[in-house]
Amino acid sequence: LSKTLLFQALEPAARRDLSTYAFTRTHGAGDPIFAAGDEGRAMMAIVTGQVRISLVTPNAREVVLADLHTDEVFGEIALLDGGERSADARALTNVTLLVLERRDVMKVLKAYPESALKLLELLCARIRRSDERMAELAFLDISTRLARALLRILDGPNRTGRKGIQRLSLSQTEMAQMIGSGREPVNRCLKGWERRGVVELKDGWLVVSDRGALELLAAQE
Ligand code: CMP
Repeated sequence: LSKTLLFQALEPAARRDLSTYAFTRTHGAGDPIFAAGDEGRAMMAIVTGQVRISLVTPNAREVVLADLHTDEVFGEIALLDGGERSADARALTNVTLLVLERRDVMKVLKAYPESALKLLELLCARIRRSDERMAELAFLDISTRLARALLRILDGPNRTGRKGIQRLSLSQTEMAQMIGSGREPVNRCLKGWERRGVVELKDGWLVVSDRGALELLAAQE
């Protein structure tokens, strides 16, 4: 718990209090953690593994809102406003979570006001990111959105924890879900990039052959 971003800034007493209330839970890769619309009385911190936050339409189209990694927290929205879960959460890998129940979080938020500020900071960061994504959806074409999404994954924490990886194991459906598009336009875009030597599609891998070209594609307004 002490490593979790949200709690890093807390004074040791607040951290000690919270960790006495938290319990761990594990989920296998692919398991649902909760679904949009569920009642939510707890928030979770990721100890190990990756969690996908997404929304699924009634006709089973999925849009990925975020992939969260070790030390990140989720489930804070329903916990704070008492409403329903705003999105689905699913384990992408085997996952160990620290679970904090509402009543315990509330106790700590009241006793240690700086922990409430930290939570607000987290919410602000998520709103900023959502705003950026909304602007991308409204203003940018599929090629630019896809280039940006791929660079975010390449530069972010990844499943192996290794840096500088230039190949991704992502299906075209997953890429479409990340940028709010259909699979067909993603396929056309990748084929075009492949002809120009930007990427290679090999054995289910997307290999970035020309990172500079991908950055140029991402920079287009
Ligand atoms: P909650 O609504 O309780 O359950 C779904 C969780 O997904 C939500 O809390 C947040 O923790 C997380 N979440 C929802 N939308 C986003 C987003 N756009 N970016 C990152 N996390 C999100």
